[in-house]
Amino acid sequence: MDWVYISDIGAHEGQDVTLKGWIYNKRSSGKLHFLLIRDGTGVIQGVVSRAEVAPEAFEAAGILTQESSVVVSGKVRADSRAPGGYELSVSDVKPVQIAHEYPISPKEHGVDFLMDHRHLWLRSSRQHAILRIRATIIGAIRGYLDSQGFTLVDSPILTPSACEGTTTLFETTYFDEKAYLSQSGQLYLESAAMALGKVYCFGPAFRAEKSKTRRHLIEFWIVEPEAAYFEHEDNLRLQEAVVTHAVQAVLHERQAELAVLERDVAKLECVQPPFPRITYDRAMEILRAQGVEKTWGEDFGAPDETKLANLYDRPLFVEKYPSSVKAFYMQPDPERPDLALCDDLLAPEGYGEIIGGSQRIHDLALLESRIEQHNLPRDAYEWYLDLRRYGSVPHSGFGLGIERTVAWICGLEHVRETIPFPRMLYRLYP
Ligand code: 4AD
Ligand code: MG
Repeated sequence: MDWVYISDIGAHEGQDVTLKGWIYNKRSSGKLHFLLIRDGTGVIQGVVSRAEVAPEAFEAAGILTQESSVVVSGKVRADSRAPGGYELSVSDVKPVQIAHEYPISPKEHGVDFLMDHRHLWLRSSRQHAILRIRATIIGAIRGYLDSQGFTLVDSPILTPSACEGTTTLFETTYFDEKAYLSQSGQLYLESAAMALGKVYCFGPAFRAEKSKTRRHLIEFWIVEPEAAYFEHEDNLRLQEAVVTHAVQAVLHERQAELAVLERDVAKLECVQPPFPRITYDRAMEILRAQGVEKTWGEDFGAPDETKLANLYDRPLFVEKYPSSVKAFYMQPDPERPDLALCDDLLAPEGYGEIIGGSQRIHDLALLESRIEQHNLPRDAYEWYLDLRRYGSVPHSGFGLGIERTVAWICGLEHVRETIPFPRMLYRLYP
């Protein structure tokens, strides 16, 4: 009998097939066992009738526990009442391993318990939905950038210097030297942009952030496009296109998963360009008018971002922050040199910043002075300064955080469920 996946079962109506999977759930009466079988691609009910199978097969079905692995054969029947539209009339049951008592039952468990069992928690339908949507988002973003002529260029994980400030660096040893886990591939991507024009990297980033919030991970994944001759305006347009593309892909390809998560899709359907834009100065006025006490030059916190984003039905660009709150490499606004040509893209519904981007300083002397002002060790940045010595051009790029984007699109409370094995403050297991 041919081995088929549950997702393809519709093509085998009336045929005898074999499924290879695990027991999601089981109900039994004296004469019947109802096996809920999952194989990673879907779930189907198999009915084992004492009258229709060999006694050994009926007995085998009887000893199957939750999450036991099993090979089941039977005939595919259309059944409009069944969840996927099909049911299996089982003819044979071959246990592969009888699972020990499974720690995760359909009843409620606390978050810490689930996090300790993350390696098993991944088998639940909610986690399947999230992981599939995550994969779709990553694929859509990469596919879009590839289609626009961007070349994937991988950046190193072990680095000699900081990209996003020295306070969150993860230090390690590199033989006799100090090294840091990458906070962002940006500096290397700037080098690649001068070589290939339009490039992007996709990989993990590490930040030793002592903040325990629902938006922060210690290890997260980031997509970072960088393009030579792109100015601030070009950068914003690319961000809009990338985010729209990701949301549309999920709406088209992951309807069923969005339904499992009970996501309000009407909120996602609004995500179309152009995205609204406000400056940092305007954002400050809006917040003050709402009674928030803030002085010019302060950065926005999560509650401020939520207040601003709540005024719009789609992602919001906040642009031109004071250079003093941003990283060393950002190009000043020619009209207001105290501001940076940068943006944060804030997701709707209180999900906060999903993108940070900017035009980069291309002038050698200015970049040298910023490295000094930020007390960065000049030696470690000599190669980066070279990019301003040999054919320097205006260029821009951004970083989109995958987990925050997944949390928003899935409508999740916390980023911990958006990544298979979250690394958080005080959590390195499993
Ligand atoms: O705004 P950030 O710090 O920007 C950079 O790293 C730039 N070098 C990117 C670039 O221009 N190439 O980080 C970019 C995004 C944030 O908007 C957020 O989505 C995500 O990375 N991010 C985090 N996600 C989860 N946990 C954390 N601790 C994060 N820190 C940043
Ligand atoms: Mg940022």
